[in-house]
Amino acid sequence: MKNSYDERVIRYESVTNFSDDMFDDLVAIINPQDGEVILDCGAGYAPVTQAIIGKEPMLDIEYYILEYSIVQLQRAQIEVSELLDSIGQIRSVSYQQNSAASMDYPDNFFDKVVTKMVLHELPAGEQIKMISEIFRILKPGGKLILWQTILDDSTVHFYRNMFRKKDSLAGYDSLVENRNFITQEAFYYLLENARFEKYDLAKAFIYNFNSKYRLYSELKGDLEKLKALNTYLLEMVETEGQGFSEKTQFTFEDDNVSLFFKQGVYLAQKASI
Ligand SMILES: C[S@@+](CC[C@H](N)C(=O)[O-])C[C@H]1O[C@@H](n2cnc3c(N)ncnc32)[C@H](O)[C@@H]1O
Repeated sequence: MKNSYDERVIRYESVTNFSDDMFDDLVAIINPQDGEVILDCGAGYAPVTQAIIGKEPMLDIEYYILEYSIVQLQRAQIEVSELLDSIGQIRSVSYQQNSAASMDYPDNFFDKVVTKMVLHELPAGEQIKMISEIFRILKPGGKLILWQTILDDSTVHFYRNMFRKKDSLAGYDSLVENRNFITQEAFYYLLENARFEKYDLAKAFIYNFNSKYRLYSELKGDLEKLKALNTYLLEMVETEGQGFSEKTQFTFEDDNVSLFFKQGVYLAQKASI
């Protein structure tokens, strides 16, 4: 099956409410320091690395960028190089095409691993490997900074089905096959299984899903597909009941289904020796 991320060339900042403030908060949590070695894992076009460089242009950091999709990796290469050129800085940036579930970086290599909206892209068994791999490549005392949607038993099934339907209508078959959104509880289990002892939610954001934002970016402007997505979501919201629709502040107007969820940035630390 071809990798749908080789075709899904969109900007997440335009289909979500990711703002500069959120990236500022992320960089504050990463707290980058001179001389550190930092991995942007599942980087896409590398907005995380670009945010660190943009906010801390003078820090001499060794950047590593890992991506499974060759198309996304090329986007990262172009955008990070252009940013560094535009601010007149030279940095060591290593790009690698590989899966987060089987990285070939050495043990105890990174001060920090940052991974934004990636864990859910991998099937369950691969998620266990990804978090264990991150633990392995972090130095003692090193930190994992992971951004994802905060889900619980009352939202996870809806959220999974919502994206499965959208991805299926968009023709993103590998996303339909692989994506596995998990609850916060299941995520904490992955951290403990990998032997992270200290972890916490460092920051929570409001995340607003709008079906209409996907019309041109992902559904190729096909209004029938947007209507099919909306009909599916309306039926699911009705099945979930009043409590769910209040909790997610569900609205439907002008061909747009709007729902609110939470996202969070988690910080986990590998014990120092
Ligand atoms: C939702 S995007 C997020 C990209 C970027 N981190 C950001 O926040 O803009 C998910 C990214 O994970 C990548 N990805 C999917 N499976 C992966 C894997 N097994 N290993 C590494 N990256 C993967 C996809 O190619 C895609 O670029």
